[in-house]
Amino acid sequence: MNLPFAESFKIKMVEPLKRSSREQREEWIRNARYNLFKLKSDEVFIDLLTDSGTTAMSDKQWAAIMTGDESYAGARSFFELKERVQDIMGFTHFLPTHQGRAAENVLFSVIIKEGNIVPGNSHFDTTKGHIEFRKAKAIDCTIDEAFNTTIDHPFKGNLDLNKLERVYKEYGKDRIPCVVVTVTCNSSGGQPVSLKNMKEVYNLSQQYGIPVLYDSARFAENAYFIKLREPEYKDFTIKEIVREMYKYADMATMSAKKDGLVNIGGFIACNDEEIYRQACTFNIVFEGYVTYGGMAGRDMAALAIGLDESTEFDYLETRIKQVEYLGNKLIDYGVPIQYPIGGHAIFVDAAKVLPNVPKEQYQAQTLGIELYIEGGVRGVEIGTLLADRDPETRENRYPKLELLRLAIPRRVYTNNHMDYIAASLKNVFDRREKITSGFNITWEAPIMRHFTVELKKA
Ligand code: F0G
Repeated sequence: MNLPFAESFKIKMVEPLKRSSREQREEWIRNARYNLFKLKSDEVFIDLLTDSGTTAMSDKQWAAIMTGDESYAGARSFFELKERVQDIMGFTHFLPTHQGRAAENVLFSVIIKEGNIVPGNSHFDTTKGHIEFRKAKAIDCTIDEAFNTTIDHPFKGNLDLNKLERVYKEYGKDRIPCVVVTVTCNSSGGQPVSLKNMKEVYNLSQQYGIPVLYDSARFAENAYFIKLREPEYKDFTIKEIVREMYKYADMATMSAKKDGLVNIGGFIACNDEEIYRQACTFNIVFEGYVTYGGMAGRDMAALAIGLDESTEFDYLETRIKQVEYLGNKLIDYGVPIQYPIGGHAIFVDAAKVLPNVPKEQYQAQTLGIELYIEGGVRGVEIGTLLADRDPETRENRYPKLELLRLAIPRRVYTNNHMDYIAASLKNVFDRREKITSGFNITWEAPIMRHFTVELKKA
């Protein structure tokens, strides 16, 4: 008999979970104004809000926590991390920050000016937020296939070169400080970008004199998909693929809370000396001195090891197979999800699950609330609430996809948890016809409203 797949780790430390009743959850979510972010974590049984900063660290990482160097300047842990980043990604300059959006803040303070245009593949919300905050504009150049959840395409994170070139032609290099390539592309469903596309984007950008920035939060998961889906690279190690990927980038921002396998951290890496120098000044003002940038020495030490572990095939196979396991269960149950299954999360097509809920009443948010009440499982809306209002017209922006994201923390849950999640969602799916109304906003912030929005039943 063929031996089944089994995880490439064993468990050394556990953390108890709290169960709850449906009645309790109904009360808790009402008190949270129907915003899943406002729940206490003790009110959640299985937390799929994010894969960010929720990783279980390895024994080696915890050992590094004890030997981290907390010197203000020139810490040994800084140099260990810098060398690891240089080794893995190949950049000359490295600047730590406390998380990914901080890296965006520091780097964009240098390169983005009012009136600029920043094309990319479905920029993540903080990336877009940092662009719009500077009165610049993000333009989405993702391939059209990404916006149809049923089309099978191996690299739905790819940029459409025609769309990109149109933007380059219209605005030119004086108004375009960079193109952002998000690997994997979170907003389109944890979908990878192919190495072929990376090369093409780089070559096109070179022609127009525009630098390429990789938003690297899930770069290792992207490399895993390249190994599996791009035949040229099937015999490359993950580390070799990563080196190849970064040949086609001029700079990178990183949220280390994902593929860095740590609970906090981030960085900027680049080859341009002048950008690095200017970024150092902003780093000191916003984050901290250039050899810690808002991170503790111990966190830098754990990140140096995390980057090594996350770029190993066995780790990635275990990680991504678990996401696939959940996705395949949901497909078996007939639940419509973004296909193919992405790297870090399952994206449920909420507009298809709840067609009887008007889109003005937030279908994906409604599905998220139903799933929480059903099983204590917390996902996150990637839909109209997140898409926010147009900064000029203040009208709601209705995104092409209305999704509920179930993000799977790394090395945290077992496949029994995946079975439980799938069963909870199936129960909601089975009673979908009866769900005919959603929610209305009672309060919202002027930007990034989804974190703090307050809702009431429609
Ligand atoms: N870029 C991408 C692609 C992201 O997914 C995130 C965060 C960031 C940048 C910002 O990094 O959180 O460290 O400041 N994504 C999290 C998520 C929050 O849940 O997807 P950060």
